[in-house]
Amino acid sequence: MSSSPAAEWEEPAEAHAGEVRKLSTLLEASQALSATLDLKGSLQRVLEILGRHHGAIRSTVVLLNENTGDVELEAASGAITAKRVRYRVGEGVTGKVVQTGKPIVVPRVSRDPTFLNRAAERPELPSQELTYISAPIALEGKTVGAIGIDLQFKADRDYHRTTKFLGVVGSMIAQAVKVQRLIQADKQRLVDENTHLRQELRERYDFSNLVGTSGPMHQVYEQIAQVARTNTTVLLRGESGTGKELIAHAIHYNSPRSKKPFIKVSCAALPQDLIESELFGYEKGAFTGAYTSKKGRFEAAEGGTLFLDEIGDLNLATQIKLLRILQEREFERLGGTETIRTNIRLIAATNKDLERAIAAGEFREDLYYRLNVFAIFVPPLRERKPDVLLLADHFLEKFSKEHNKNVKRIATPAIDMLSSYHWPGNVRELANVIERAVVVCDTQVIHAHHLPPTLQTAEASDTGQTTTLRESLEAFEKDALQDALKSARGNRAKAARLLSTTERIFNYRVRKYGIDWRRFKA
Ligand SMILES: Nc1ncnc2c1ncn2[C@@H]1O[C@H](COP(=O)(O)OP(=O)(O)OP(=O)(O)O)[C@@H](O)[C@H]1O
Ligand SMILES: [Mg+2]
Repeated sequence: MSSSPAAEWEEPAEAHAGEVRKLSTLLEASQALSATLDLKGSLQRVLEILGRHHGAIRSTVVLLNENTGDVELEAASGAITAKRVRYRVGEGVTGKVVQTGKPIVVPRVSRDPTFLNRAAERPELPSQELTYISAPIALEGKTVGAIGIDLQFKADRDYHRTTKFLGVVGSMIAQAVKVQRLIQADKQRLVDENTHLRQELRERYDFSNLVGTSGPMHQVYEQIAQVARTNTTVLLRGESGTGKELIAHAIHYNSPRSKKPFIKVSCAALPQDLIESELFGYEKGAFTGAYTSKKGRFEAAEGGTLFLDEIGDLNLATQIKLLRILQEREFERLGGTETIRTNIRLIAATNKDLERAIAAGEFREDLYYRLNVFAIFVPPLRERKPDVLLLADHFLEKFSKEHNKNVKRIATPAIDMLSSYHWPGNVRELANVIERAVVVCDTQVIHAHHLPPTLQTAEASDTGQTTTLRESLEAFEKDALQDALKSARGNRAKAARLLSTTERIFNYRVRKYGIDWRRFKA
C-alpha cells in the first residue's frame, strides 16, 4: 500500500488504499475540528490534511456571514492569492453551491466561463488542467457555506465518489460551525445580560444628587428604584430638611417621564383662591384681576410629574378638588367650563402627622388614602449617623466652590462635634452649618470654632461634660499643632514656621500634648 504524500485522489487500481486514506482523513479531520474552539484554525488544518492525503492543489472553506448575507472565505490552503474573498450568494460556482445547497463539479476549469478565480489566479492552468469540486456545508437543513478543492484533472476520475467524500467533510465542518455558533450565542447572551444588569444597576442607583450610604438611606434608594418606573402616586414623609424634595426629583428623573416637566407647588397654607388658581389655572374674567386666561400647574406638568409639597397644609376646600382629580383624572380651570383631562404623576410630601390631622378634622381621610399609595419615610439625620460626615464633605466641596474658597477638610475635633450633634433641622441644618463654616473659615481647614454655638453646647451637654475655656483653648492648640505637622509632613522646623513660632516653643508644646510628630513624616 503506497501512501506517498502526493498521493492522487483515488485511482481505480488503488481503490482499497483510497478508502483507507479517506477514512484516516476523516478521522484526522474530526480530531482537528474537535481539538480547539478556534474554528478558523481547525478548518485550516482540515484543508491541509486534504492537501496532504489527497493531492488537493488548493482548497477553501467559505461560510455565509449571517449579518451581511455574503459568502466569505474562512480558511484556505495551497496557492491562494486573495486574503479576503467575498461572494454574493449565487455568484460564481461557490456562490451557487451556497445558494442551491447542491455540490458542483467542474471537470475542466479552463473550459468553464462561470469560473471567477476570485480566491486564486490558478497559474497552473496554461500548463495543467484542473478539476474543481465544491460541496455544501449544511447545518440544520440550511446551507451555511461550502468547501471547495482544486484537483489535477484526470479523465477517469470518479467524480461522484469524490464529491460524496467531500460532502462528508462538509458535514463534519458543519458540526464544528454549529458548536462555534452555540458558544458565540452563549457568549453574546452573557455579554447582553451583563450590559443589561449594569444598565439596571446604573438606573437603580444613579440618584446622583443624593448623598448617603447608611442602611436607612439604602432602603430609601431601594424604594425610589421600585416606584420610579411606575405611575404610582408617592407620599414622601419625614421631618423638615430630610431631603424629601430631592427624593421627589430623583423619582421623576428616574422615571419614564424624566423628559417631561417636573412641576412643584408648595401648598403651605395658601388661601383657597390662590392655591386653586395656581393648581388649576383660570379663564379670563374668572375673578377680579383675571384679565387673561392662565394655565395652572396641572396643565404645565402634563405628561410629567406634579410635586405637591407640604400637602398637609392644603386647605379643606382644595383637598376636595384634588381628590376629584385623583379619582377622575380631569378638572376645569377656575371660571372655565371645558373639562381638561390630565396625565400626571403625583408626588406629595409632608412633614406633618397626617393621621393626627385627620383626627383633628384638618385633613380628609379619603384624600389621605388616595395619596398614601406608596409611602416613603425619609429618616431623620440623627438616625443615619454614618451619613453625617459624607454629607459634611459633600457640602464642604459644594460651598467651597460656590464661595470661591479653598477649604479642604474638617479637623478632627470639629468632626467629633458634627458627629455627636442631634441635627433637629436634619440635612438642611447640616448644609447651613457647613456653609457658614466655609464662609468664616480663613484657612484650608474647618476647626471647631468655625461651627455655630448650638453645636458647641450640644456636644458639651451630649457628653455630660462642661468644657472650660482652658480646655477648649488647649484642644484648639493641639489641633493647630497637628495640622501644622501634617502640612509640613513631620518637619518640625517647618511646622514651627507655619505657626510663626520658634522651633523650641513648638517642640515644647508638641511634647506637652504628647503628640507623636514622627507620625506625620511622609
Ligand atoms: N441625601 C442628601 N444628599 C445631599 N443633599 C441633601 C440630601 N438630603 C437633603 N439634602 C439637601 O438638604 C436640603 C434640604 O432638603 P429638602 O429641601 O429636600 O428637604 P425637605 O425634606 O423637602 O424639607 P422640608 O420638609 O423642610 O421642605 C436641600 O438643600 C437638599 O439639597
Ligand atoms: Mg421641602
